[in-house]
Amino acid sequence: MIFVDACLGKPTPYTPIWMMRQAGRYLPEYMQVREQAGDFLSLCKDPQKACEVTLQPVDILGVDAAILFSDILVVPMEMGMELKFVKGEGPLFPKPIETLEDLEALSVLEAATKLEYVYETIRLIRGKLAADKALIGFCGAPWTLATYMVEGQGTKTYAKVKKLIYSNPDFMHKLLAKVTEVLKLYMERQIQSGINVAMVFDSWAAALEEDAYFEFSWNYMKEISSYLKAKYPHIPVILFPKGISGYLDRIDGEFDVFGVDWSTPLELAREKLGDKYVLQGNMEPTRLYSKTAIKEGVEKIVQTMQNNNRHIFNLGHGILPDIPVENAKYFISLAQELTKRA
Ligand code: CP3
Repeated sequence: MIFVDACLGKPTPYTPIWMMRQAGRYLPEYMQVREQAGDFLSLCKDPQKACEVTLQPVDILGVDAAILFSDILVVPMEMGMELKFVKGEGPLFPKPIETLEDLEALSVLEAATKLEYVYETIRLIRGKLAADKALIGFCGAPWTLATYMVEGQGTKTYAKVKKLIYSNPDFMHKLLAKVTEVLKLYMERQIQSGINVAMVFDSWAAALEEDAYFEFSWNYMKEISSYLKAKYPHIPVILFPKGISGYLDRIDGEFDVFGVDWSTPLELAREKLGDKYVLQGNMEPTRLYSKTAIKEGVEKIVQTMQNNNRHIFNLGHGILPDIPVENAKYFISLAQELTKRA
């Protein structure tokens, strides 16, 4: 698989590409299946339909990897927290974690088992996906999940979760450790079900100052990746901490690919991390509104990475719901074309 080879820094005929949120609302085919399912969470829990939307971007856009269709928040949900997706407002946990009793009521082993519909989706996808295309499995970073669990929803200030960090760090560490235990089991079962690459999304990394970031997030991400790499060295691990360009000097640990978000200069990431890790990214997602901006963006990235074998093309965050499909196609084919190696 060209995608797996690229993750491991092996030579490939061109730089493989996929897009974060590639199975999503910009595709009319996705909207149709979501409608049939009823709502987003029902779609996540329906292996046949989740498999179908996972394969859509591979068929329609020709990306080099499929990403499991699911959400990072199904994990806290199956640990026992009620989860709603409110139209136009995003995810909501109506009863966030507040007390030690709330924390202790969360399940670990049972959660990993209840996520069976995800493992079934993976088995279905791997059965249908072309043999040369990789399937990426994923989870949220413990910090990002714990933020949702404590705040109950997206937040601008992170006031509740940061209050805990500075006033009751032991409580946060207990919560993070518990979530980390579930995620290790969850990712392991995803691997056993057939994923070829594992990715961890730390969307709220940028909420923390430097020392707090390493103590409350990066250490737990590394714990997951070390656990997986020790048991499954052939499965590449991608870590994606969003928005921490100021902390690159302290990035370390056992994993294969560092996901570069669009706000981090790719040149800087290459300088600081390019020898240690393969880099993934980092096209600014709103460039996809304009073909001229796409061409400019792709060319600059190719130039920065010197078209070597240590890069995976991607956006620097998820694709937006109103991007024209035609532009997404143009992005994919242009990147594949301009990185062809003799
Ligand atoms: O990338 C993919 O195509 C695979 C599927 C995937 C989804 N969510 C599907 C989804 C993945 C990998 C995620 C990860 C995820 N989910 C993250 C981490 C990555 C990131 O974007 O930073 C986060 C923070 C979430 C939580 C989440 N899920 C939010 C905040 C929202 C609402 C915001 C929005 O875009 O509407 C979701 C919903 C969600 N997850 C959708 C999809 C396709 C949209 C649901 C719909 O209305 O159909």
